Amino acid sequence: MASSSKLLLFFLSPIFIHFLALGTIAELKEQHHVCYNNTGNYSTNSSYEENLHRLLNSLSTKTVDYGFYNFSDGENADEVYVIGICRPDMDPENCRKCISAASNNLTSICSNFLLATIWLDDGEYHNCMLRYANYSIFGLMEDAPYFYKSSKGNITENLEDFSQKRNKLLKRLIGEAAARGSPTKYAVGEEGVSENLRLYALVQCNPDLTEANCTSCLNGILGNLSACCDKKEGGGVDCPSCRFRYEKTKFYHSSIEGKKNTVITAVRSVIGFVILIFIGCIILRMRKTEEDDEIVVEASSSQEYYSGSTRSDQLKNEVVPLSRNDVSMITELLPR
Ligand SMILES: *[C@@H]1O[C@H](CO)[C@@H](O)[C@H](O)[C@H]1NC(C)=O
Ligand SMILES: *[C@@H]1O[C@H](CO)[C@@H](O)[C@H](O)[C@H]1NC(C)=O
Ligand SMILES: *[C@@H]1O[C@H](CO)[C@@H](O)[C@H](O)[C@H]1NC(C)=O
Ligand SMILES: *[C@@H]1O[C@H](CO)[C@@H](O)[C@H](O)[C@H]1NC(C)=O
Ligand SMILES: *[C@@H]1O[C@H](CO)[C@@H](O)[C@H](O)[C@H]1NC(C)=O
Ligand SMILES: *[C@@H]1O[C@H](CO)[C@@H](O)[C@H](O)[C@H]1NC(C)=O
Ligand SMILES: *[C@@H]1O[C@H](CO)[C@@H](O)[C@H](O)[C@H]1NC(C)=O
Ligand SMILES: *[C@@H]1O[C@H](CO)[C@@H](O)[C@H](O)[C@H]1NC(C)=O
Ligand SMILES: *[C@@H]1O[C@H](CO)[C@@H](O)[C@H](O)[C@H]1NC(C)=O
Repeated sequence: MASSSKLLLFFLSPIFIHFLALGTIAELKEQHHVCYNNTGNYSTNSSYEENLHRLLNSLSTKTVDYGFYNFSDGENADEVYVIGICRPDMDPENCRKCISAASNNLTSICSNFLLATIWLDDGEYHNCMLRYANYSIFGLMEDAPYFYKSSKGNITENLEDFSQKRNKLLKRLIGEAAARGSPTKYAVGEEGVSENLRLYALVQCNPDLTEANCTSCLNGILGNLSACCDKKEGGGVDCPSCRFRYEKTKFYHSSIEGKKNTVITAVRSVIGFVILIFIGCIILRMRKTEEDDEIVVEASSSQEYYSGSTRSDQLKNEVVPLSRNDVSMITELLPR
């Protein structure tokens, strides 16, 4: 009895860790924001401000099931448009929490700016972008400003092979993501580099982009790959309309891979504890420690992360031009 309950605990623990990781709000680790200084300001107590605050506040009560927020409020010159997007492996509730945190931050950080964008990342399951403007930004492709991040670890062996495989993987995923239909404009995949080195990557466009604009956005930021991540074990580039990231560990949740998705969903939806335990045991045995690895990996890779474009001397209300060639980003590395 004692040994069998130990066994149960042993097999169940990864499942519980899995649930916990999806359910808790980790502290913010990274925040990037851009307050656009060349497009004008709104004044305090204006209708624009009122609409903006009402719109952003309302986001915290809205749950969307496909990870993309697209709302507007107000009329004529005072209309405010907002779009927000979550990493595709986030569930709707965590996405809502992330968007809600982003909207709270945005009004205080970029107060009085007509246009602003913010990115949040807690290194786990809260990763989103939110932006607002005084014109419709739905369907618009903007590949600037961008920021990039890379891991501290360097590739020391087979660098050429590594770069080649990495670029090949990203190119393939860009094609896949761009070709996919509206709510799911992303792709994940992996590529073996050598016997003990595999690469995992995720690319994503905002779902309001056309195939041509998605391709062009991702190819654009892919052009920054060497500046961002040359010789780096992991890294990625983010801009308002698209983003990519690669790692040598599987940093995204298996649920968006498609095939394994069905297994995990089946486990989750099983009614009855006993059945859950048995299926859990079988699957976990089959898949060995993969579930466990994922979470550990996610946490450790995010700890290694830092922003390649961090300029910690810059503070809020920094002016950022829209031109891609002359972009500065504001990054706050928040204490953990
Ligand atoms: C908008 O206001 C901010 C301060 O809130 C200021 O730094 C910025 O220069 C202003 N921009 C314009 C175009 O007036
Ligand atoms: C904005 O409105 C509040 C309360 O309605 C008032 O206290 C404040 O002075 C106003 N600010 C400006 C700049 O008009
Ligand atoms: C997004 O908002 C625009 C208006 O800004 C609207 O035309 C469009 O239908 C909306 N799309 C979705 C998917 O909500
Ligand atoms: C940003 O959001 C986080 C998490 O909700 C919060 O802890 C932080 O105080 C916010 N920062 C600002 C400037 O609003
Ligand atoms: C947005 O604000 C700018 C600056 O005030 C203005 O020139 C532009 O016409 C506004 N756009 C819309 C759609 O109202
Ligand atoms: C791509 O985006 C640009 C700029 O946002 C827009 O003007 C253009 O119509 C888009 N092209 C397609 C094919 O959607
Ligand atoms: C990786 O390389 C960079 C410069 O090429 C160096 O500054 C850094 O310390 C290296 N990182 C590690 C973990 O060795
Ligand atoms: C990013 O790419 C653009 C062109 O796509 C280029 O103009 C810019 O200099 C690059 N920035 C960096 C930091 O590599
Ligand atoms: C906007 O930001 C740029 C770059 O930081 C700066 O050169 C410019 O003076 C700013 N414009 C305004 C109106 O503050």
